[in-house]
Amino acid sequence: TTEIYTLSLHDALPISDFELGRVLGRGSFGTVALATKTSTGETYAMKSLSKRMLIAVRQTDSAMLEREILRRPSHPFIVRMYYAFTSVSCLHLVLDYLPGGDLYGRLEAEGPLPTSRARLYAAELVLALGHVHDVVRIIFRDLKPDNVLLDAHGHACLADFGLATDGLEGRSFCGTIEYIAPEVIRSEAYSKAVDWWGLGVLLYELLEGKTPFDDPNPARVQRRILQEAPLWPEGTDAEATAFLQRLLVRDAATRLGTGASGTADVMADGFFAPLDFALVMQRAYTPEWCPAPPSKRLQGRRGAEGQGRRGGGGGGGGGRRRRRRRRRRGGGGGG
Ligand code: ADE
Repeated sequence: TTEIYTLSLHDALPISDFELGRVLGRGSFGTVALATKTSTGETYAMKSLSKRMLIAVRQTDSAMLEREILRRPSHPFIVRMYYAFTSVSCLHLVLDYLPGGDLYGRLEAEGPLPTSRARLYAAELVLALGHVHDVVRIIFRDLKPDNVLLDAHGHACLADFGLATDGLEGRSFCGTIEYIAPEVIRSEAYSKAVDWWGLGVLLYELLEGKTPFDDPNPARVQRRILQEAPLWPEGTDAEATAFLQRLLVRDAATRLGTGASGTADVMADGFFAPLDFALVMQRAYTPEWCPAPPSKRLQGRRGAEGQGRRGGGGGGGGGRRRRRRRRRRGGGGGG
């Protein structure tokens, strides 16, 4: 607990080096706000976690872990951290500013997405999860549209490692109900296969506009996850359905992505046949949607890399349906 007050960081900066702007999001332990580094004019997203909240709910370890995870080598589809430091009351993480908002906001504005568009998001997330599992060697554990942000070009980026495990084994019950894998509900020890289940739920939601085990009552959601087969509405792409049926396998031991070659197995699925993963990795496919061009002043670091290639129109129509953000349950930490 004291560790959080005594972080010694080579990349430490005083909070006064940043000018804080509008709030981008609020989580259980703090807020994310636009932050401009005064010396350079660069825009970042600053995530500020309240020390008092973290200590009150015994989440200091997971906050430290999040910082450690984000500190490791970067990946094109994982939010990058540039600085971490503390102020009197908060732990601050200075992250990429991704101007496209999250996939939750896209679903809210646009409803279900075309298969081709969902496929590129899924492919980018497969590469991100592969890196998380095989290089960082942790489980992400909280895959959902809220935790996938879009950069200035519309590419998907995995964000928020607040629930990630320290290592490749998990035990504790946590996550966001609609996305939780059956083995987590059953209180079994679990593996990275929970993330591939999460990818299945997320992709289903992108294509259908709702989660596969949707119910207003959380207890019924859990029962449906454990017992019911998802519905496959008419018109769902056949390759997509087949892929989802391989991911949403209740028995983790036979779920796609489970084995030592898990990432490669997922990448080899027929659903991704139209894409070349080497090109996905290079961000060579132009996303069908990207945010409206940023004003100079608001350009984030990744936006500033500017390639100027643009997909479909910006904006997005606003409020097709009301959706409700779902809160996650349980603590992170080690197990
Ligand atoms: N980078 C990290 N979190 C972010 C958020 N919520 N919005 C924009 N960029 C971010």
